[in-house]
Amino acid sequence: MKFAVLISGRGSNLQALIEACRDETCPGEIVLVVSNKADVQGLERAREAGIATQTLDHKAYADRETFDAAMSAAIKEAGAEFICLAGFMRLLSDAFVRTWRDKLINIHPSLLPAYKGLHVHERMIEDGARFGGCTVHFVRPTLDEGPIIAQAVVPIRPDDTADALALRILKQEHIIYPMALKLIAQGRVRISAERVLIDGHHPPEGALINPQEAS
Ligand code: GRF
Repeated sequence: MKFAVLISGRGSNLQALIEACRDETCPGEIVLVVSNKADVQGLERAREAGIATQTLDHKAYADRETFDAAMSAAIKEAGAEFICLAGFMRLLSDAFVRTWRDKLINIHPSLLPAYKGLHVHERMIEDGARFGGCTVHFVRPTLDEGPIIAQAVVPIRPDDTADALALRILKQEHIIYPMALKLIAQGRVRISAERVLIDGHHPPEGALINPQEAS
């Protein structure tokens, strides 16, 4: 399966996806990386991996719809059939989301549907939440909403800082995003009544408790 990845910056998730596609058990290939910003680290990572890149500056387009149409055209031209958003910091038009419905996924650094939007790590710590995490989900027109494919839970420490928590969550992002891409490339991911079913996957029983039972 041919993937396009949309980025705006660092591209550490892109790197994790590139590495996943190098594994021969993953029938996926990244054929294009699109960035709306020039000179970002993610573009460098793509070039090093020999992947075609395109920079499309959103400021050069009259409106969101025109920009998104240019992205769609570039993605189709490259032969990609599925899109991964990886730190792409632009809202997408309804038309784009409709065109790529069920072929467009995102990673978000919280346990959705909790903590949509920006500054999630600060907000979780301020709220005294005990667990954070990350989510890979299909994209729907509303920001950070859509059927959930994979999540990882990360305990929040009493003395956590937003940066420290972000780093621990990012490590899990680099595990679940490649996992989701591989499951999709293997054709094992289905959506039924807006819920994701994964062939041959049975979630473990039990619970994560933070704090654990007092001794
Ligand atoms: C990640 O935290 C991701 O969850 C969010 O944006 C960040 C991108 O980081 N959507 P990177 O560019 O993949 O390093």
